[in-house]
Amino acid sequence: MSVNKEVKRITTHTLQKMKSNGEKISMITAYDFSFARIFDAAGIDVILVGDSASNVMAGHETTLPITLDQMIYHAQSVLRGIHRCLVVVDLPFGTYQSNSDIALASAIRIMKETGAHAIKLEGGEEAVESIKRIVHAGIPVMGHLGLTPQSIYKFGTYTVRAKEEEEANKLKKDALLLQEAGCFATVLEKIPAILAKEVSESLHIPTIGIGAGNACDGQVLVMHDMLGINTEFKPRFLRQYLNLHEQITGAVQQYIGDVKSGDFPNEHESY
Ligand code: KIV
Repeated sequence: MSVNKEVKRITTHTLQKMKSNGEKISMITAYDFSFARIFDAAGIDVILVGDSASNVMAGHETTLPITLDQMIYHAQSVLRGIHRCLVVVDLPFGTYQSNSDIALASAIRIMKETGAHAIKLEGGEEAVESIKRIVHAGIPVMGHLGLTPQSIYKFGTYTVRAKEEEEANKLKKDALLLQEAGCFATVLEKIPAILAKEVSESLHIPTIGIGAGNACDGQVLVMHDMLGINTEFKPRFLRQYLNLHEQITGAVQQYIGDVKSGDFPNEHESY
């Protein structure tokens, strides 16, 4: 008799069922083995290996500089830490926008080299051809509409998108196009809650909001923001669950003091 407990893995179909049953989807970013292991064991539904790694891991101002090789390194580390959640990996800037051959090759590299379960890419109508080809190759795709950080130099600012009717109408059209192209879900970032509600109700695939109100089918936050590792970034949409910056600073200062005073290590901490 086997004593192995069967782990019920989250799949794209699970997320679809969750939407149908009105159960909200929890998603968080992670970029390494240790945090991925904690989040998976805590019961998170989806881990996003976001290209926000460019900001929070590498210290860049935007998400543009991170490379496909660097995303693959982060994703490989995350995949070693998880047993049950779904792992989605961002296609970084410049690895899918130019044409659908390149987009497909980038998506295949992520799936083949990391063991990830899905990829995410930004954009609406302009991304449809690539999405169709990636989905056709058997790779689940998550979309990303609204504030798409890879287009920050086009937008010029990180303020709320689609407040005006024209952009809101385009976003609604794009959401339907992503669904028709075969996306299993889409992120809606920093758009009015009322628009996110309308989009979420019009789609049969789940929407995952960040700064998009409560009517989305799920929510995502960047781990460094919600755990309070960053102190500078405090947008209205962020709920900070810990103040790790303060706690870590206190712990490290205590350690420095203990080393300097000769209190650490004591005889129980020595051989
Ligand atoms: O890269 C990222 O962390 C993201 C989320 C903000 C959705 O795309």
